[in-house]
Amino acid sequence: MEKNKEIVLSGIRPTGFLHLGNYFGALKNWARMQYEYECYFFIADWHSLTTHTDTSELKLITRRLVSELIAGGLDPEQCTMYAQSDIPEIPELYLYLNMVAYKGELEKTVTFKEKARKQPENINAGLLTYPVLQAADILIHRCHYVPVGKDQEQHIEMTRNFAERFNHRYGDVFPIPKAFSYSEDLVRILSLDGSGKMSKSEQQMNTVYLNDDDELIRKKIMKAKTDQGPSAPSSEKPEYIQGLFTLLGLVSSPEVVARFEEDFNRCQIRYGDMKKQLAEDMIRFIKPIRDKAAALQNDPVFIDNILANGAEKARKSAGETLLEVRKALGFKYL
Ligand code: TRP
Repeated sequence: MEKNKEIVLSGIRPTGFLHLGNYFGALKNWARMQYEYECYFFIADWHSLTTHTDTSELKLITRRLVSELIAGGLDPEQCTMYAQSDIPEIPELYLYLNMVAYKGELEKTVTFKEKARKQPENINAGLLTYPVLQAADILIHRCHYVPVGKDQEQHIEMTRNFAERFNHRYGDVFPIPKAFSYSEDLVRILSLDGSGKMSKSEQQMNTVYLNDDDELIRKKIMKAKTDQGPSAPSSEKPEYIQGLFTLLGLVSSPEVVARFEEDFNRCQIRYGDMKKQLAEDMIRFIKPIRDKAAALQNDPVFIDNILANGAEKARKSAGETLLEVRKALGFKYL
């Protein structure tokens, strides 16, 4: 099939390992998009420095993430996969974009305020300019669509503003990228204790990772928050119960989901049984991904090759953009 010529890009920070939220909220979409568009998917290792100062595990985590992304459906023959830190063109563009980004708007960014609150001892300038680096990631390939979750929409909006300001001042270099998702409501995978989303680096017992073994998956799911069950027929579900039904809907058969829905509506639900079923279906879903990722991880040369090939392709595209940027700015003395 001839691919659409439009360019798609997304990235993930190497701050932990992939979990169900990453899979259903992002990776599944990426795997579909790679057949339809020219896609770049990368490991945002520079971004992780804004919050995770220890770099000793970075290489390991990056390799493992690449293995998991491939096991979860990315095909390095269909998309370009690379590590951000292999693309020196990005920081040059970041520098130019810093001149069209205003301190006031950066300080107002929701993710900046959240992270500043979480790490008051390390409110570094990189944290403040995080959205500028992200804009450089996106604009360096003159990208059209960025498949991201809700929490990233503000960053995409800022990228659009930076691109528009740049184009307005120096000439039309960048297409204006858009956030993208196939469906209106992206699946939101809740943490098993019902408090917020599953997270790569926090609350490890409430997050199911693609790498969890069967026993651990059972243990986590059996511990998930439930209650006595509804006291009136066809009640509204509390968020943590809805979270379990969402997971069931993703990994169990429609008949199984229908049976538990019915039990819930008749106030006859036994959450213990539902969680047992969910755990077994989850194991069936995760096992092949986990096994494939493990096999890939045993072959670091293979992974390093993918990253090297990806970097070469990404640098070619990045170099072409940077040349246009330098021309537009008038920085082309040589
Ligand atoms: N900020 C994104 C996140 O935390 C990661 C990221 C970095 C990204 N650069 C990007 C996502 C460019 C999309 C496009 O999830």
